[in-house]
Amino acid sequence: QKISIIGVPMDLGQMRRGVDMGPSVIRYAGVVERLEALGYAVEDRGDVKIGRPSTLDVKNDDNLKDLNVVIEANQTLAEEVSKAVAEDAFPLILGGDHSIAIGSLAGVADKVDQLGVIWYDAHGDLNTGETSPSGNIHGMPLAASLGIGHPSLTEIGGYAPKVRPENVVIIGARSLDEGERELIKEKGIKVFTMHEVDRLGMSKVMEQAIEHVTKNTDGVHLSLDLDALDPLYAPGVGTPVIGGPTYRETHLAMEMLAESGIITSAEFVEVNPILDVKNQTAEAAVALIGSLFGEKLL
Ligand code: ARG
Ligand code: MN
Ligand code: MN
Ligand code: MN
Repeated sequence: QKISIIGVPMDLGQMRRGVDMGPSVIRYAGVVERLEALGYAVEDRGDVKIGRPSTLDVKNDDNLKDLNVVIEANQTLAEEVSKAVAEDAFPLILGGDHSIAIGSLAGVADKVDQLGVIWYDAHGDLNTGETSPSGNIHGMPLAASLGIGHPSLTEIGGYAPKVRPENVVIIGARSLDEGERELIKEKGIKVFTMHEVDRLGMSKVMEQAIEHVTKNTDGVHLSLDLDALDPLYAPGVGTPVIGGPTYRETHLAMEMLAESGIITSAEFVEVNPILDVKNQTAEAAVALIGSLFGEKLL
C-alpha cells in the first residue's frame, strides 16, 4: 500500500514556539526510510503552508488564540488529506501542534461512513473557547471534531460532526480540565486514563480499545500526541505531564494496532525539538510509526 506523508508545521495552536519544526525533525529521524524498509511505497507530499498571524489576531472575544491562521491551515490540510485518501493512500500526518487534528479528521471522515478515533494523549483536548483555561486551540481538536465548540472550528471541511462520541476512545489521559470531565460524562466517551493503564496493563487496554472503536465503524484514525508518553521518553513536548505510559507500553500499543489492521489514517503531533536535546522525541515517534506499520524483530 501507498503511504502519503503530509507535514503540518503549525505552532499557533499553543504558545510555545518550535513545534512547527516537528515535521522536519521527524523526517530527519528517518521516517521515510523506515517505512520504505517495510516495503511501503512512500510519497512525501511536503508541508502544508501555514500563515503568520497578525498581532490583532492573537486574542479575540471567543478565547481562541490565533483562530484565523488555525482555521486556514486546517482547511488546507483537510483538502490535502482528502486527496491522499482519493488516491487510496494511507494519510500519515506529521505535526505540528494538536490543533491540526481538526483538519486531518475533516479530510478522512467524509470518505467513510462512520469513523472511529483513537486519541492517545495525556490530555482530552475536549475544551471549547468557553471551557479552555488557556485559549490554546490544541486543547480543543477532539471537541471540535465531535461538533462541539466554535462553528469556525467544527465546520472545517464544510460539514460537522466528523465523529460520534461512541466511536472515540481516549488512552493515557492524566490531565483533564473541569469542562472536559463534564463533556466526557455527558457524551459517555470511553476513556482509559492512566488508572486503567496501571490496573489492566496496556495489553488489555488496547484489546478493549480496539473492540470499542471498531464496533460501528468502517475506518479508524489514530491521533497520537507525543505528550501521551511519559516525559522521560518524550521530553520534547510543550505540555508534558509526568506519569505516562513508557516507550515500551506505547510500542506494544502500536504493535497491537498493526496486528489488528484497523488503522486507516494516523497523525503524530506535538514534537518540539527546541525542548529536546538529542531529538529523542522525534526518534521515538519514528520508532512508534515503524511499529504501527508492522515492523517486527523476527
Ligand atoms: N487542557 C489544556 C488546555 O486546554 C492543555 C491541552 C494540551 N493539549 C495538547 N494537545 N498538548 O490548554
Ligand atoms: Mn497532550
Ligand atoms: Mn493533544
Ligand atoms: Mn517491536
